[in-house]
Amino acid sequence: MMRSLLLWSSRNRWMNERLPEYAFVRRAVSRFMPGEEAASALDESVRLNDKRIFTVLTLLGENVTAREEAAEVCAHYHSVLGQVEEQGLNSEVSVKLTQLGLDLDPQIAREALSSLVSRAAELGKFVWVDMEGSGYVDTTLQMFEHVRRAHANVGVCLQAYLYRTREDLARLLPLSPAIRLVKGAYAEPADRAYPKKKDVDENYMELAVVLLEASVPRAAFATHDAEIIRSVQAAAAERRIESSALEFQMLYGIARAKQEELAHQGHRMGVLISYGSAWFAWYMRRLAERPANLGFLMRSMFR
Ligand code: FDA
Repeated sequence: MMRSLLLWSSRNRWMNERLPEYAFVRRAVSRFMPGEEAASALDESVRLNDKRIFTVLTLLGENVTAREEAAEVCAHYHSVLGQVEEQGLNSEVSVKLTQLGLDLDPQIAREALSSLVSRAAELGKFVWVDMEGSGYVDTTLQMFEHVRRAHANVGVCLQAYLYRTREDLARLLPLSPAIRLVKGAYAEPADRAYPKKKDVDENYMELAVVLLEASVPRAAFATHDAEIIRSVQAAAAERRIESSALEFQMLYGIARAKQEELAHQGHRMGVLISYGSAWFAWYMRRLAERPANLGFLMRSMFR
């Protein structure tokens, strides 16, 4: 019930506008976000790169409603790719198609994605495409397939909570795709997504095994679930996959010790750093993943 309430809050306009004004909410969010500016994320990348952890940078925001805004987001990512190159960082970017204008006109988002992936290819960098609510899966996969045919430096996120993901993955495999596998963060109805965590976890592992057995260029297991991480490591060892060929990704500020441990074990370890002013909906989704995080928010309020 708490998860549903928090996911409802993430879509509530009044809360999105008002709550970020409170200092205690801003203090609490800083645990998951080094700052609102790209510069903070780039600074944190230097620190994490020193620990053999690469970063994935993402500007918060989704469902933009104006062409100018979509163009600004695209220009922003071009600039970030340039800064990553200039500073010699081991960093990638991750984009949301609705932030690149998908709701306005799919053509705008497709062109923006193509331009970013082309530029990243020139710089030897990588672009991830986030997966949003289930209504966007078809278009996201079509755009990914379109861009992947021209460039190898692009990957897409798949969500284990959706019943359809197994078939989506089978459809993508002939393209030799880079896949980031997550559990899924949105409120989805029971006719589209497994309502029970146990079933999501089981499906995650089944999909993980498909990915380990298909020789995709990158399979990134993006989870903080210690049990799943152990199972993925065991499944990889059984298939004689070397530690350095196994990739994990986590969110900034969550399970920091585990991030360092996995990097130390020789795995590819990435941390996704979000930044920007539109953090409220995203922060509510982080709380929904672990309602115990509300404790931090409460403590921050009483401090
Ligand atoms: P689960 O939620 O079961 O948590 C397992 C354990 O991890 C918890 O018991 C707790 O210990 C810890 N944990 C998890 N979340 C926490 C939190 N917020 N705070 C503190 N501890 C926490 N989703 C999506 O729909 N589309 C996308 O494009 C992406 N992209 C993405 C990229 C990367 C790099 C990551 C790591 C995640 C995403 N996600 C995502 C989010 C994903 O779908 C999922 O909601 C979160 O990763 C949380 O799920 P876990 O797999 O960690 O498991």
